[in-house]
Amino acid sequence: MPRTATLHVCSDCGHSEPRWMGQCPGCGAWNTLVEERPVAALTGRAGGSRSAARGAAGTAGAVAVRPLREVEQVRVARLPAGIGELDRVLGGGIVPGSLVLLGGSPGIGKSTLTNMVMGHLAAAGRRTLYVSGEESAAQIRLRAERLETEGCAALDVPVLAETDLDTVLATLVAEKPDVCVIDSVQTLHAAELSGAPGSVGQVREVASRIMAVAKGQGTAVFLVGHVTKEGALAGPRVLEHLVDCVLQFEGERERTYRTLRALKNRFGSTNETGVFEMAQGGLVEVLDPSARFVGEATRKPGSVVLAAMEGTRPLLVEVQALVSPSEIVPPRRVCNGIDRNRLALVLAVLGRHAGVGTGTADVFVNVVGGVRVDEPGADLAVALAVASAARGVTAGGEDRPLPLACFGEVGLTGELRSVGHGDRRRQEARKFGLDPVISPESAPTLRQALKAALGAPAPNLKTS
Ligand code: TYD
Ligand code: MG
Repeated sequence: MPRTATLHVCSDCGHSEPRWMGQCPGCGAWNTLVEERPVAALTGRAGGSRSAARGAAGTAGAVAVRPLREVEQVRVARLPAGIGELDRVLGGGIVPGSLVLLGGSPGIGKSTLTNMVMGHLAAAGRRTLYVSGEESAAQIRLRAERLETEGCAALDVPVLAETDLDTVLATLVAEKPDVCVIDSVQTLHAAELSGAPGSVGQVREVASRIMAVAKGQGTAVFLVGHVTKEGALAGPRVLEHLVDCVLQFEGERERTYRTLRALKNRFGSTNETGVFEMAQGGLVEVLDPSARFVGEATRKPGSVVLAAMEGTRPLLVEVQALVSPSEIVPPRRVCNGIDRNRLALVLAVLGRHAGVGTGTADVFVNVVGGVRVDEPGADLAVALAVASAARGVTAGGEDRPLPLACFGEVGLTGELRSVGHGDRRRQEARKFGLDPVISPESAPTLRQALKAALGAPAPNLKTS
């Protein structure tokens, strides 16, 4: 195919240049020029600022519009992915013709998960296609051998190890699979653009052309994308508006637990989370994660159980804290599984309103099992874990056989604020015998919650 000349368009101001430049001559912004095909070369592109500009030329006639009530209802028959946790996160299965972006850091299990899905679909008699730009067919086979079970015909999945976009699209048209996996979107290369695979222009081009073909023939596509160290979808960030669904696969490579959550979902809730465990034969669903996490919880100062909500499902997770004398100024604030700013807020309120100062101590907070809890309801657990560690007192008392459970948002004036689904959280805790649960309903202020969890106010352990 002849190379069309490309343009480099500023994503801030729209200024275009024939060549790439570090700084946009139009608006002066740095690193905003993105390679694009010029308008005449655009075929089958679904939207974007340039096609909007074409519409503004005003050559098209008006179309008759009608109220939504009169629009035909469509019932989409979803394809079960064969993995319950994934189906739930997707909102009840794979929607035919949909585009799903699956992000996650390297080694987290994206290829394993997509391999398994394809295997299940193949076993159910669906047409599948696995496109890999990262591994050779032989390498993929090696993984598939480990995943092959009765319900997962991983070895029956047709595979294409290719990085050229045109070849992939032609194969997609020829094979017409029901579901296709592109592993990963950053490795495919559109020949018309000169940018390296994985650059913003390339990633956008690859995704939009795959989308045009896939939507046209009703193929559902899983686009696998890598995540940068900072946790953002590298390159694929620009794809988030394009795709129907953005799934994030999280966890730490060294840990066995992995969570799958939807950041965007046009066909379901974004609140669902699936929990998996990486085992010898691939990813295994953890159907009762609360039981796992509570069973593993420790009974020491610095540990409490948080009754969290993961979407529509309550989840009990252990939150641990360590408070130790610091040798540096400012002292360390390290957290895993919660937001840093939330930790800063909780520490400030603890110091100002509850008499637990940590100004000269390093504070470490960890949500056990590699789980992330990004909800305000986690505040109280963080506060109690830190206070329990700072005072060296076991939450709930030394002789309590089971850990102490809690939830609630910490307000800036030291009050505890209600969070959603209080009843479901308490119910889940009760199911495991964790009763009573400390919550804003039982303790209106953080001071009262501390008293209930740790007994009478006491000074911190010596931190220097
Ligand atoms: P992989 O799915 O290739 O991760 P990604 O595509 O996200 O980069 O593999 C994840 C890790 O899981 C890899 O280090 C090997 C391990 N693994 C198992 O422990 N058991 C298995 O059955 C498989 C297939 C992989
Ligand atoms: Mg991979």
